[in-house]
Parts: sequence; structure tokens; C-alpha cells
Amino acid sequence: MTSPQIPASDPVLVAPETWLIPNLAAAGPGQYLPVNSLLVRGSEPIIVDTGAPVHRQRWLDQVFSLVDPEDVRWIFLSHDDGDHIGGLADALAMCPSATVVTNFFATERLSLERSLPIRRLRWLEPGDSFLAGDRRMRLVLPPIFDGPTTRGLFDEHTGVLWGVDSFAAMTTGSVRRRDDVPEDLYVESFALLNSLVSPWHQWLDPARYRRHVDSVADLHPDTVATAHGPLLTGDAIGDAFDRVRAMAAAPRVMPPGQAALDELVAATVHGPAVA
Ligand SMILES: [Fe+2]
Ligand SMILES: [Fe+2]
Repeated sequence: MTSPQIPASDPVLVAPETWLIPNLAAAGPGQYLPVNSLLVRGSEPIIVDTGAPVHRQRWLDQVFSLVDPEDVRWIFLSHDDGDHIGGLADALAMCPSATVVTNFFATERLSLERSLPIRRLRWLEPGDSFLAGDRRMRLVLPPIFDGPTTRGLFDEHTGVLWGVDSFAAMTTGSVRRRDDVPEDLYVESFALLNSLVSPWHQWLDPARYRRHVDSVADLHPDTVATAHGPLLTGDAIGDAFDRVRAMAAAPRVMPPGQAALDELVAATVHGPAVA
């Protein structure tokens, strides 16, 4: 859901020449789901994901207020979910020098809804990297993901990790950093959203999963930016990795069901209930 009351979202500098492109979706009274992307404006600028269709025009305004489309050399597509490809067609058309970093399966899946210029693609896998001018960007498999094509991105130059759908949590609006999110909201929404994104966590072997999570944490990122959560720095990074390690073999966190939907429909039709 979106509403005109959603707080405005200016890009946030998170590291040298690196901006979070923040957007929000309404998620309940005073609560919002972040829908972020990233721009790395090194000597070869990289657009990292392209936002959601509902934010398309705002996303284009945000990104191209910071970089000339003609200068963009890379579009990193973390995966083919709709909330990450909202501006993809525009970016491809506006940025003629940009190569799209993606993979075989994402291309296959995307080809069912749009054609991609195959000469402008590069297919990379976790562990691969690409050199974007002064930046070496390494692809990683994030600890939590909801699509098989998902790859995160680590900037070896700045220590910024793009965690894609990992570490999701609600915020209270234009709040950008984990420490500014009320503790209860962070803890509860982190548990719910990460379980929703990767419900297979209940079947994981904790020791094997720990080794995977450790392999990502061992990058020792200075900043973790994600599509659906607040920015993580300092102790918040280790805390977030600990929270996902603890999800292995833990039961799913159940989402709201029909009763909640009935309430939502009633509030929409009749207005909020008055005690
Ligand atoms: Fe996703
Ligand atoms: Fe997403």
C-alpha cells in the first residue's frame, strides 16, 4: 500500500560516493517497509537494483539527481523480483553505456515478461567479481533470500555490503539507521520478515548454515545496506548476522491471517473501530 503521507525520501550518503536510494511502503499505523536500492558513483557508476514499480518515477528522480545517465556503466540486478526491477527498463533505455550484471536464471525468468539486450548482460555467480573502474565488486550469496537468482554485492573499496532481502525490518518513517528504530519494532519485525522471506530456515542444519552465514560475515563489512531494512553499522551488523544464524532449525514466524485481513477490510469500509 502507498499513501500520500509516506515520508519523503532523499538519498542518504552511506560511504564515499555511495548512496542509499530510500523509499517506503506503508505497513500499518506509523510503520513502513523500506524499499531501497543503492548507487555507487565511482569512476564507473553502478546502479544497484532499480526499486519497485510503485516508486518508479521517484526512483528515477532520486538516482538521476546524483548521476548523469550517460555516465552509468553498470546496473547490478540482485534478482528478478518485481520490487527490484521497477526502473530496469528506464535505466536500460537511459543509460546506453551500462552493462547489466545478472545471471543465467534471472535472465531466463525475466525473459518471460520482457526482453533483455543480451549483448549488454554479464552473467556472474557468487564468488565472482567485476571491476568497475576504481571499485572491485564481489558477488555473494546473502544469508536470507527469497529468490534463487539472488546475489548480494560487496564493495571491497568501501566495505559496503548490499544484502538484498536479508536483514529486513520495519521502520517508523524516514528513520534510516537501525539504532533509530524502536527496539521492539526492530526485533519483532526482523524475526517476522526474515522468516517470511526465507521460510526454508526451519529445515536448515544449524552447523552448515552457520558456516554459510560466517562466510558472508567474514567479509567484515563496515556498512550493510539492504532493500528492506535500516542501515546497519557497528554492533548492529554482528547482531543482525547472529539473528539469522539463530533462525536455522527454528520454527517459522507466522504472519497475520484471515482475522487480521477481516479487521483491515472493516477499517477500510467503516473506518477504525472506536473503543
Ligand atoms: Fe526478493
Ligand atoms: Fe525485495
